[in-house]
Amino acid sequence: MRVQGSVLVPGDKSISHRALMLAALARGRSRVRHILPSADVHSTAGVLRALGVAVPPLAPDFTIHSDGIPALGEPSRDLDCGNSGTTARLMAGIAAGLPFTSRFVGDASLSRRPMGRIARPLAAMGARVEFESGEHLPMRVHGGPLRGVSWTSEVASAQVKSAILLAGVVGGVPVSVREPARSRDHTERMLAAAGARVETLGTLVRVEAPSDGAALEPLDMRVPGDPSSAAFLTALAVLADDGGLTLPEVCLNPTRTGFFLALQRMGARVELEPGASQGGEPVGTVRAWPSRLEAIALSAADVPAMIDELPLLACVAARASGITVIAGAAELSVKESDRIAAEVENLRAVGVEAAERPDGLVVTGGSAPLRGAVRTHGDHRIAMAFGVLGALPGSAITIDDRACVAVSYPDFWDDLEGVSA
Ligand code: S3P
Repeated sequence: MRVQGSVLVPGDKSISHRALMLAALARGRSRVRHILPSADVHSTAGVLRALGVAVPPLAPDFTIHSDGIPALGEPSRDLDCGNSGTTARLMAGIAAGLPFTSRFVGDASLSRRPMGRIARPLAAMGARVEFESGEHLPMRVHGGPLRGVSWTSEVASAQVKSAILLAGVVGGVPVSVREPARSRDHTERMLAAAGARVETLGTLVRVEAPSDGAALEPLDMRVPGDPSSAAFLTALAVLADDGGLTLPEVCLNPTRTGFFLALQRMGARVELEPGASQGGEPVGTVRAWPSRLEAIALSAADVPAMIDELPLLACVAARASGITVIAGAAELSVKESDRIAAEVENLRAVGVEAAERPDGLVVTGGSAPLRGAVRTHGDHRIAMAFGVLGALPGSAITIDDRACVAVSYPDFWDDLEGVSA
């Protein structure tokens, strides 16, 4: 199979959520280009609208006008976060500093995911967070005046970190968060650009809202391409027989590039060419060519910068020579699906030898044709990872829910087909 062409991948999901949220918290008119119009980002837009922010329909170039934090009002309906953990956790941080009660709900997958990890720090800041069962959605956040906090998080999670940082900004109190390893830092970068004081020292980040209660400044930014979406096309190029792919304007923030570096360690010909930065984020071109791959061992230190790409890495490992071990990745089991179980189940279903570990998985590479039926569990990244394997010559893979890619990459199937011949 030959791959060819240049694909402008859709805007980064994490940055798109944050662009909407910070535009809502800022006072004035923000302009955002290349936002990702996916289901998850629509969830954030819907939650902000329920809080009274006039978020227009998402478009390639649009503006949001907000009167700032005081303009956010008590919602008359539940805040529906759909499938989106980022919406639920970051918006809970914002809601913690607002003087009313918000009730968060989500789909079946999101309603299984852990929320105690944000409830505890937000409670330490003075908000009251109530669950109807366990530490899951539905969740009520009773917001109000907050106090500052120095929080040590047990997990390297940008969602936990960002919930605390945003609560600090909305509550007008200083906060600091220490994590076991550095998670993606988009919130910090955007808050700094909007006028907050941000200090980072290794895995510790401290944020102070703009002084004297001044509002955040509006944004004017282009959302760079999503490295987590670019990863699928990069994997396809590496596994192809011939040709090569170019992916311009991808976010190359070092907290996100772990997958590309792991491919390089496996022997892949992948190049990251830095370009001009956009919206405070390093951006550049990813180039990838067909390559012979060796197995790899990944451990806890490798995980945060490629957490969303691990299902794909495991699929790529199925075509490498040797046994790949992914360890230190227990967080995978609390994502949109239990990605350790779902990945192993599906690798076996298409004829690959794979085993679960409590903190990851083991995959034996090979070259036999891949055939079988994949069950996505509604998880977009499982669908796309196996979609890449399904596009390889000799594969005969069916995927039960192809439409779930709409969560992060609505045009995925078209782009996949468009580059392969
Ligand atoms: C995200 C952070 C990551 C990632 C998720 C998006 C974000 O989650 O898995 O897809 O936008 O902050 P954690 O940081 O909680 O691991």
